[in-house]
Amino acid sequence: MLKHLVSASQLTPEILARLFETSREIEEFWVQHRMNPDLDKTMFLEKCGVVGKTMIPLFYESSTRTRVTFHMAWRFLGGDIPFATENAGIFSSAAKGETLEDTLQVLSHYGPNLIVLRHPDNDAGQRAADATDMSPFPASVINAGSGSNEHPTQAILDAYTIKKFLGRNREFSIAFMGDLAKGRTVRSLATLLSQYPGVRMYFVAPRLTQISDDLRQKLRAAKVDFEEIETGWDSLIKNRAVKFLYQTRLQEERWQNQPEILAEITRLQPEYTITEKTGELMTKHEVFLMHPMPIRDEIAEPVKQMPCFIGFLQAQCGFFTRMGLMSEMVKSAAASHSAIWPKKKPAAVSAARV
Ligand code: NCD
Repeated sequence: MLKHLVSASQLTPEILARLFETSREIEEFWVQHRMNPDLDKTMFLEKCGVVGKTMIPLFYESSTRTRVTFHMAWRFLGGDIPFATENAGIFSSAAKGETLEDTLQVLSHYGPNLIVLRHPDNDAGQRAADATDMSPFPASVINAGSGSNEHPTQAILDAYTIKKFLGRNREFSIAFMGDLAKGRTVRSLATLLSQYPGVRMYFVAPRLTQISDDLRQKLRAAKVDFEEIETGWDSLIKNRAVKFLYQTRLQEERWQNQPEILAEITRLQPEYTITEKTGELMTKHEVFLMHPMPIRDEIAEPVKQMPCFIGFLQAQCGFFTRMGLMSEMVKSAAASHSAIWPKKKPAAVSAARV
């Protein structure tokens, strides 16, 4: 299993199969426990390996689902959360100019098993992992969203959702729509799915928010069958050409320094909206509508109540898959601790002979 999870490109089909299996078992237990709160958790907790372990969620960007699911998931598995901040940029020493590396090294010196990080910088996940690796008790780092670049745990939950709704089928088509240039969820999910032959992808967006060149190259290198579409995307639904449509919001906060582009893409937004009529057609043609959330006006309000919309179940899958991921990571770290933990003697402690 992984020491750190910083990028969706680390998620091989073998690792995913393992994560899905664990997440499914945890989901089954959770459902039983939800129906019968008196159900004995002892064996379940023992198997998950999280009791007595600590996790620090460190969020420099706003979040509802990701933050709440990581918290609830860790607690359901019996773990401790000694400290959490939902606005690390303001409440941590980052406000005084401390680097991300220093903050992560300091936190890792306190010996948490896991640090879950959300940060506006594209390379924050890797930098955080490298920083904790320098400390004597290296914590595992999970990237819970880094800039417009990566959101690997969202990709895991999205893939788990797709698997649930796909049944035994292995070949399918998916259309990604919206702000594909700055949205990190599409980048991570497309990267993850690119490892599976038989997945056809469509990227639907105005030219200004189409996928970036590095993702395009990556998909070509992986021999993915994909197409970029600017207009006439509704034919994908009319012709039943896709099983899933993954809608995303305009990442307004990431376009602030390009106000002209922001104005233009805001003007074009209505052309890429799921209207009530489109929702009805999707329901009729059994095309599932996904969204990482938050949703603004790119999906008409009534569509959220239609059978085609699976966004709320998708969000719930984040709870199960984050439990599966954290359990697996913590168990494998524990198995290798005797070799790497502590990596070196903490200098201050050995020098002071306390
Ligand atoms: C997404 C994110 O943070 O990238 N939200 C999430 O984690 N579910 C999507 C978004 O903010 O648009």
